[in-house]
Amino acid sequence: MPATFPFFATAPKGMEPLLATELQGLGADAVRPIRAGAAFRGSQELAYRVCLWSRIANRVLLPLATFPAPDPAALYEGVRAICWSDHIAIDGTLAVDFTTSQSAITHTHFGALKVKDAIVDQFRDTKGRRPSVDVLHPSVRINVHVRRDVATASIDLSGESLHRRSYREHHTAAPLKENLAAAVLLRAGWPAIAAAGGALIDPMCGSGTLPIEAAWMAGDVASGLLRASFGFLEWKGHDPTSWAALLEEARQRREAGRKRIPPIAGYDSERSAVRVALANVERAGLRGVVHVERRELADCTPVPSRTGAAGLVVVNPPYGERLGEVGTLRPLYACLGALLTERFTGWSAGVLAGNRELGKCLGLRARRRHTVFNGSIECQLLTFTLAPAFVLRHG
Ligand SMILES: C[S@@+](CC[C@H](N)C(=O)[O-])C[C@H]1O[C@@H](n2cnc3c(N)ncnc32)[C@H](O)[C@@H]1O
Repeated sequence: MPATFPFFATAPKGMEPLLATELQGLGADAVRPIRAGAAFRGSQELAYRVCLWSRIANRVLLPLATFPAPDPAALYEGVRAICWSDHIAIDGTLAVDFTTSQSAITHTHFGALKVKDAIVDQFRDTKGRRPSVDVLHPSVRINVHVRRDVATASIDLSGESLHRRSYREHHTAAPLKENLAAAVLLRAGWPAIAAAGGALIDPMCGSGTLPIEAAWMAGDVASGLLRASFGFLEWKGHDPTSWAALLEEARQRREAGRKRIPPIAGYDSERSAVRVALANVERAGLRGVVHVERRELADCTPVPSRTGAAGLVVVNPPYGERLGEVGTLRPLYACLGALLTERFTGWSAGVLAGNRELGKCLGLRARRRHTVFNGSIECQLLTFTLAPAFVLRHG
């Protein structure tokens, strides 16, 4: 039996239940969803597996110690009590992420500085030398969270946030975070639709995030397979043999999964968005698999599936963040609603609407409604079954 450890995976608010289900599917034990994440137990290999395969998580943390931190001195002492030379090479670099809530220590920059001081002072006192700080590309990223004056210090095994899959180099105006796109697809029932051979269309695909995530999900492509960097690669506890085996398994699964990807298409009215989406599709290894084309919403029609199964429309229409924009977007949402009912009967749909008011402009009765966050923007994720009985026509 391999040794097991407690871990914590973070995720955007609203996605905790999806994260918990995903962690269980990956083999985690004692999964406990809590605000903005989930605690779980498992082997080191399991934590690597989560880093490689989680479509929902932002970070995977390995907690080293939890201790009272009612003031800066206690924070310093608590961090100093951890043996950092077990984790960071003396010639390596480190960065500290510090968050705090409902605690006497409120200043995150100051907290991070105290943590960094405690670590480098320990090295200097015991080894005579110390690792340096590299905020952007550290060998090891340390995460300290203080809640109600109790600190938890962890190694950040993910490094850069896991929503970055490495297929997106160029950004369009409002790209969807990759893990939010995955959440939309899961909530809309895409895995089952894809397994039945149903097609997927995103009629306003922007940089192509939804079609690409959909193809990777259907094709069993590990979400982290293209990433060059993870937080554990230069951590002293890293197990390269176990990581190499996981990568090999993921490459074989990608190979085998490619033929299972059903027809997937993304359209956008903007030439620049189509260009970016095509470049992202190429980088994601999906050329010839995901079709991208310049097309107006009004010209969107169903793509036939190979099996006759009904498909899925997923879409993240413009949000209207600025004052006055919401009004101009109403006709677009109404057009989308009409198009879904008139041309996509029998299909499912998932719409990530900027807000409740725009969601209503679709004129459809949602099967489910979830609140999710795209960064700081609170969005409505609406899912629909486009059977005639569910359609409310607005005169
Ligand atoms: C919020 S963005 C989509 C972002 C996308 N999910 C991504 O990850 O990059 C909305 C997209 O809708 C497109 N759009 C707006 N009006 C449209 C229309 N009438 N027909 C087709 N696309 C439209 C915009 O060009 C923009 O790329």
